[in-house]
Amino acid sequence: MNPKKRAGIAAAQYITSGMTIGLGTGSTVYYMVEEVGRRIREENLNIECVTTSERTSEQAKQLGIVIKDLDDVDHIDLTIDGADEISKDYQGIKGGGAALLFEKIVATYSNKNIWIIDESKQVQELGAFPLPIEVVPYGSEHLFKYFQEKNYKPTFRLNDTGEKLKTDGGHYIIDLHLEKIAHPKELAHELSTLVGVVEHGLFIDIVNQIIIGTDQDIKVIEVRH
Ligand code: A5P
Repeated sequence: MNPKKRAGIAAAQYITSGMTIGLGTGSTVYYMVEEVGRRIREENLNIECVTTSERTSEQAKQLGIVIKDLDDVDHIDLTIDGADEISKDYQGIKGGGAALLFEKIVATYSNKNIWIIDESKQVQELGAFPLPIEVVPYGSEHLFKYFQEKNYKPTFRLNDTGEKLKTDGGHYIIDLHLEKIAHPKELAHELSTLVGVVEHGLFIDIVNQIIIGTDQDIKVIEVRH
């Protein structure tokens, strides 16, 4: 079984009937959502879910998973999501799938967050993976220039037809090719103060548990921040 699938299936076993679940986005989450669908069909698992992207909503609906609007649930028991990089002190970069804004909102209002990854996502230091910044289109060229001047090596993310990609929230993504992020908390603070930045892909002190799929088995890390 491929490692992402192994991690996804393992994570879905943490779900029990009666829970409100946040469903993340990405190719690892895909397997988790399929397993949730199987458990609903075969094990009478009874849950309601909120999703972090239109892509995940589509998949979930096809599996008969009950989807609620985030504002129609009073809490989220558990969110299971992927990650692009996780550092040795368990900070993360997310947003490779352009869903970082909704992912961070859902994660923020979740009682517990599990990230599911394969081993390639574990790094000593964040930054080799380009850091996604979700920005308001209006004035975004000025923000882009600001990032250039800071030597953050920005690129606009493009869609399949070569236009600037629009997120589910109607924003653009600027990827910063930083190579190394020595001080993630400081950078997160700086990015949060910039006008026009809606959200950034640094997920600081958010994850509670990490499930790593390998070729043979899974590893589970309990995270204390
Ligand atoms: C989506 O915007 C991302 O945050 C994903 O969770 C992340 O890119 C991991 O995706 P994969 O599981 O496809 O690697």
